[in-house]
Amino acid sequence: MTLIAHITDLHLRPRGLTCYRFSDTNMLAERALGAVRALDPKVDALIVSGDLTDRDDPREYALARDLFSRFDRPIYLIPGNHDSSEGMRREMRDFPGMSETRDGKIFYSARIGSLRLIALDSHLSGQSQGELGDEQLAWLDRELGHDSTPTLIALHHPPALSGISHMDKIGLVDADALAEVVAPHAQVERLICGHLHRPIIAGFAGKIMTLAPSTGHQVVLDLSEHGPPMFNFEPPAYFLHYHSDKTGVVSHLAYVENFPGPHHFFADPGVTWPGDERG
Ligand SMILES: [Fe+2]
Ligand SMILES: [Fe+2]
Repeated sequence: MTLIAHITDLHLRPRGLTCYRFSDTNMLAERALGAVRALDPKVDALIVSGDLTDRDDPREYALARDLFSRFDRPIYLIPGNHDSSEGMRREMRDFPGMSETRDGKIFYSARIGSLRLIALDSHLSGQSQGELGDEQLAWLDRELGHDSTPTLIALHHPPALSGISHMDKIGLVDADALAEVVAPHAQVERLICGHLHRPIIAGFAGKIMTLAPSTGHQVVLDLSEHGPPMFNFEPPAYFLHYHSDKTGVVSHLAYVENFPGPHHFFADPGVTWPGDERG
């Protein structure tokens, strides 16, 4: 059994500062990491799919290192549009894959139990949109060609559109080229992304794409044509990707907050459930 947690869009700020005035992203990220750390059974690894920082500030990376140092499992990082490839390589150099850069981008693969992670870098300098680029896509094609282990591909910018217009405008510009590379490879079980700050599941290139919500603030669900960019505090959550020979990859959305319960299931007095020997 392999269990991988996927969190995203921490938007950390220098200690004591909030994000966009209302969002205490530092506290919320700490909470999310605490929830993942407390899981039983423990996860085999944690994937953080970008926007670790809000401003690519060394103080924000320092806080990320501090929060991650409390975690006793491997942590795999990729940059988002709010980070930078250079900043992440410089400030997070002890994390797996950070030294494997080509063409200014960070991309690498790692074995996690029975699964394989391919981490891609969609950061595009000075832009909110994302791009993978020809060199990275050629590398991905080679990687997928020589290893048939069930694979999760992590990238910050989701390649499929969401219907949330202001976010779709800052999506992945070379999504069609990515679809061509990914489509023929049956071992690709998931594309796991962030950036949208919402829990979303969609198809892409015949695969399943899961978007984790932010650990902080969420983007308002507005499917109107010209909806304005707004955020709210719908509950933060993360994905738990569970893999076993029996189940294949199953993706559970898990909430950071604790809710009332658990309670036992009891039938009303005098009612017997079919197959229930307790009467
Ligand atoms: Fe974000
Ligand atoms: Fe983003």
